[in-house]
Amino acid sequence: MSVIERTPRIETADLTLRAPEARDAPRLAQLMNDLDIARMTSRIPHPYGIEDAEDFVVRARGVDPATDCNLLIEHEQWGVVGGLGLNTPPAAAPEVGYWIGKPWWGRGVASEALAGALAWAARDWRKRYVTAGHFADNPASGSVLIKAGFLYTGEVQWRPSLARGELVATRMMVWLA
Ligand SMILES: CC(C)(COP(=O)(O)OP(=O)(O)OC[C@H]1O[C@@H](n2cnc3c(N)ncnc32)[C@H](O)[C@@H]1OP(=O)(O)O)[C@@H](O)C(=O)NCCC(=O)NCCS
Repeated sequence: MSVIERTPRIETADLTLRAPEARDAPRLAQLMNDLDIARMTSRIPHPYGIEDAEDFVVRARGVDPATDCNLLIEHEQWGVVGGLGLNTPPAAAPEVGYWIGKPWWGRGVASEALAGALAWAARDWRKRYVTAGHFADNPASGSVLIKAGFLYTGEVQWRPSLARGELVATRMMVWLA
């Protein structure tokens, strides 16, 4: 049984990772309606409208916190700047995914958010390992994951990208708590 009964609130030096709320939908729709973000993810559609953001908030609040948590990344000065999810497929380990709004790329936000989420997953969620996969043409995400301590497993999976409408070679990684 998991020790976690509700979506966590994770604090780092400059960030709070927290459950999305209905009032976040307009900001999410604005930031996520960006092909440069969507095309690097499996599940973010493009274009991305307010209904997509509202659906995301409802779904994120409806998951079982023992297996899934979908969080917004809020910066203490800049407000909501991105999202990070830890989701557990049946009979598998949790897998992490994230995105940052383009105005804040290259400022260390993904690295700080991921470090905070992994520390929480190990300490409070009691997970022994976390997996991740990045599209082979997305070296930026590879750098984020390597910096966080992920290692390449050597496995390449062909995964769908909703925004591209095709399967994309995906390099799988693992992080041991
Ligand atoms: C990938 C993404 C999350 C990076 O977020 P970010 O906040 O800009 O990342 P950080 O600033 O923490 O950068 C972490 C490292 O990646 C490196 N990096 C960032 N952008 C890069 C790029 N375009 N190419 C190569 N390396 C890059 C940085 O140099 C940094 O390393 P350093 O600290 O040693 O310099 C962001 O670009 C994004 O949201 N992209 C679209 C969605 C996506 O790719 N999600 C991940 C799917 S697996």
